[in-house]
Amino acid sequence: RRRVTVRDIAAAKERGERWPMLTAYDALTARVFDDAGIPVLLVGDSAAMVVYGYDSTLPVTVDDLLPLTAAVSRATTRAMVVADLPFASYQEGPEQALRSAARFMKEGGAHAVKLEGGRRVAPQVEALVAAGVPVMGHVGLTPQSVNTIGGYRVQGRGHEAGEALLADAKELEHAGAFSVVLECVPSEVGRRVTEALGIATIGIGAGPDCDAQVLVWQDMAGLSPRTAKFVKRYADLADTLTGAAHAFAAEVAGGAFPAAEHSYS
Ligand code: KIV
Ligand code: NA
Repeated sequence: RRRVTVRDIAAAKERGERWPMLTAYDALTARVFDDAGIPVLLVGDSAAMVVYGYDSTLPVTVDDLLPLTAAVSRATTRAMVVADLPFASYQEGPEQALRSAARFMKEGGAHAVKLEGGRRVAPQVEALVAAGVPVMGHVGLTPQSVNTIGGYRVQGRGHEAGEALLADAKELEHAGAFSVVLECVPSEVGRRVTEALGIATIGIGAGPDCDAQVLVWQDMAGLSPRTAKFVKRYADLADTLTGAAHAFAAEVAGGAFPAAEHSYS
């Protein structure tokens, strides 16, 4: 088995095949998702919330995300590992973007990077692609801009906003991005952008017509306490872990654990 590449992503769009993407932040879950055949794993800056306990993605740094990226890369053999460039690690311009991306590729073993924004980051995308770094764009709700957006809300609603979002996505394709995440936009916008672009669209709250779908794994597995409308829960890990913790505690208190088979003679 070889790694999934940008050529595979392009071929899937050509064939009209839909594919899944999940986030991953550690070796054991990354291996599970890799073995399950998830072709692309994103080490998201959502780690700020689900790993580090912050209430937005803004505080997390390249140094915070690098070890997580390296763990995911080491634990997988097939998935393309995409590193999310965190807030303030690429906004200064192409040189800063290249410096940050290089760390994720060299120290983190990533195969591609993702950054947020449309036209305003086109120079960064061009420079990265010219340097050999595949780039995944991200438009619509871009959580690193939560303070200028004024909250986590649906983007691209209405004619003008929809057209602006489409123009941003086209600009990213023109700059050389191999795919683009569409977050929290009306399904109609997800469909229009997907039809207009030659590169893959990856939806999260962007309706059923995107080329791919992504979810934060703790959201889709039922570990996150509160989730957005666009999340579907495919498991109830919080319940499972709560039950395991209670059972362990009760058996320790009652003396049932450890039994003979867990003990050395
Ligand atoms: O950080 C993240 O998890 C993301 C995905 C939700 C697209 O950016
Ligand atoms: Na992100």
